[in-house]
Amino acid sequence: MNTLSLIKADIGSCPGHSVTHQKVLDLAREKLEEEKGKAIIDYYVTNCGDDLELLMSHKKGVNNEEIHKLAWDTFTEGTALAKEMKLYGAGQDMLSDAFSGNVRGLGPGISEMEFTERKAEPIVTFMMDKTEPGAFNFPIFKIFGDPFNTAGLVIDPKIHGGFRFEIYDIMKRNKVLLRCPQELYDALALIGAKSRYVIKRVYPTEGSPLPLDEPVAVISTEKLALIAGKYVGKDDPCAIVRAQSGMPALGEVLEPFSMPYLVSGWMRGSHNGPIMPVAQKDAKCTRFDGPPRVIALGYQLSNGKLIGPVDLFDDPAFDGARRKAGEIADYMRAHGPFEPHRLPLGDMEYTTLPEVLEGLKDRFSPVED
Ligand code: F6R
Ligand code: MG
Ligand code: MG
Repeated sequence: MNTLSLIKADIGSCPGHSVTHQKVLDLAREKLEEEKGKAIIDYYVTNCGDDLELLMSHKKGVNNEEIHKLAWDTFTEGTALAKEMKLYGAGQDMLSDAFSGNVRGLGPGISEMEFTERKAEPIVTFMMDKTEPGAFNFPIFKIFGDPFNTAGLVIDPKIHGGFRFEIYDIMKRNKVLLRCPQELYDALALIGAKSRYVIKRVYPTEGSPLPLDEPVAVISTEKLALIAGKYVGKDDPCAIVRAQSGMPALGEVLEPFSMPYLVSGWMRGSHNGPIMPVAQKDAKCTRFDGPPRVIALGYQLSNGKLIGPVDLFDDPAFDGARRKAGEIADYMRAHGPFEPHRLPLGDMEYTTLPEVLEGLKDRFSPVED
């Protein structure tokens, strides 16, 4: 069995909340290079905007202490360097300094899966900046549940049976497994409410040539505000999706991003806006700290070695989506501080707005008419 661990954290950027510094990236590469051939088989280090992303391939399973410690130590050393350079938000996602076994609940986002490497194993890693885990609901549903997106659901007997979606209620911290297409409307009833119900994993179902207990997709679902109890920046998520031969094809995996759907995040984690699929070099949130970005790096896994990556959105085929995202950004921005550009009050609970409203509390008097 192989394990892929994609662990990410915003530990500082330059300037403001825009981009991880080259020196921090270099440090992370050195740290993981030291462990190549030891704790890990292979790795790839990159950034999506201000988020440092560590992809590690190994054989130790998910939640492995050694792997999580390697990520944690890398973030800790990166934070020290970021502080030395006075990068912005240095150590922002390191919510605790007490590592005890794994990084869950400590701030970093984690997307990990263990599976049997097939004869040929295409992998796509998605990374987003200036948005939240629920931003993956729409594309992951389209990939594995929507026949208008994934032709294979209709015409390929290997996936005609559909997929099972593991959905987390991130407020109550419980989960449900729903089988699609049979329970498609139930799944949508939940995941349409993306700030609360998020797809965590997708599994194959009967009729698939794949082991039914091995995930085909996994998404990071960590919410920093729920860990810290206050606004501490957004929870820019990442995901790993496997493709082809009994799974959606690579093109079916990328297709949902041709539509720059609305996500929440953007400026101060408080605004709805379009997600823009970009090349890694363009994952740089500038305009109004956005608009939110998504990048996709593709690999073939070869006995745990990562062959690649290929920067999949670095392609004129996505120019239309980028242009449209720009137009939607103009339209949404024109609303200024008004909903639905600004998030509804319920979603603003973990932002800095309640402090402002607190100041007005004593100014209110009863309505008499
Ligand atoms: C959004 C984000 C930024 C900041 C904004 C204010 O996820 O990180 O939009 O919220 O730049 O940042 P501070 O409060 O650090 O000045
Ligand atoms: Mg930041
Ligand atoms: Mg970020």
